[in-house]
Amino acid sequence: MRIYFDNAATTPMGPEVRQHICDLMANVWGNPSSIHAEGRQARSIVEQARKTVAQHLGASIGEIFFTSGGTESNNMVLKNAVRDLGIRRIISSPLEHHSVLHSLQRLEGEGLEVRRLHPDEKGRLNLNELRELLAKDNRPTLVSLMHVNNEIGNLLDLQAVSEICAEHGALFHSDTVQSIGRYPMNLADLNLSFISGSAHKFHGPKGVGFVYINSKNIIGPMLDGGAQERNMRGSTENVYGIAGLALALKLAFENMESRRRQIEKVKSHLRHRLLTELKDVRVEGDEEHSHYTILSVSFPPSGKSELLLMLLDIEGVSASGGSACSSGVEQGSHVLEAIRADEKRKMVRFSFSHLNTLQEADRVVEILKKILH
Ligand SMILES: Cc1ncc(COP(=O)(O)O)c(C=O)c1O
Repeated sequence: MRIYFDNAATTPMGPEVRQHICDLMANVWGNPSSIHAEGRQARSIVEQARKTVAQHLGASIGEIFFTSGGTESNNMVLKNAVRDLGIRRIISSPLEHHSVLHSLQRLEGEGLEVRRLHPDEKGRLNLNELRELLAKDNRPTLVSLMHVNNEIGNLLDLQAVSEICAEHGALFHSDTVQSIGRYPMNLADLNLSFISGSAHKFHGPKGVGFVYINSKNIIGPMLDGGAQERNMRGSTENVYGIAGLALALKLAFENMESRRRQIEKVKSHLRHRLLTELKDVRVEGDEEHSHYTILSVSFPPSGKSELLLMLLDIEGVSASGGSACSSGVEQGSHVLEAIRADEKRKMVRFSFSHLNTLQEADRVVEILKKILH
């Protein structure tokens, strides 16, 4: 049996979600925009899903829009906030996901001012630097900072950042792709203007996500077309994906505590054994504020550690070197570069779901011992 420790790249779909999608595929085929019975049936599935997402996140129904995933949601927020809300400056960080980094590079190329906070060697951001930047310049500003870093697992204090943004009248977008369904969230209480989510990170289907747009900050569509998603995204809705997303989110919230307990047990067991039984292993990132599903470690340089991910794969263990890369080729990580990590050391990101076990962690330690010694 293979061991899947790469749940930050994607999670397997839950059996209930899979079954639900299959049932809908067999029985529902209407276009949600059609006014006849088949259309109304599909429409009601989409709207029920929107209600489920809104309820779990403390948002109103009108603030949730379905998209094709985290990448589209991030692109839409950043580009359309500049286009439609008169944003003159974006403050972000070099640790963001490529969908944010590359959107910002494009906007910068078109003349927008983009400021990037300077993380320390653990990837921690200095919120005073944010405060100072906001205090110095009162042009309309959007702050975009991810809740959980997908490579090193650092967890941002959303409440603290949202308060700083509110104090200075800045809008706040957070890429919450890695954290949705992992923590309770009440958007009604947070001064967040936008968040992004993606179903495949919480045991839902791939190619579907959502964006939360606070009703005070109305942006226009990125995809022009029909009036779907209340004129916010032309294109016939991904009815099956949306239904799967909503069920996966509901299950993530209903089982949050038990899933978290299981994941924490596995992470802490693996961390402890790696640190005590293997030579010179380091935990990367900010251990004091670390997301519970991600354990990022580095190994000392050696010929064997160079090939570590491949050797783990051969032994039946799926882990990753940082983020899952779209080309399938291991590339340098912009996150590790930004925190000036020792590039000779070999980074491995283990990321967990509730399906992982202590026995799997034990087996990974034994395999690593075999590979490295
Ligand atoms: C932090 C973060 N943001 C955005 C994305 C992109 O999400 P999607 O794969 O749904 O486009 C990912 C996925 O790897 C991610 O980890």
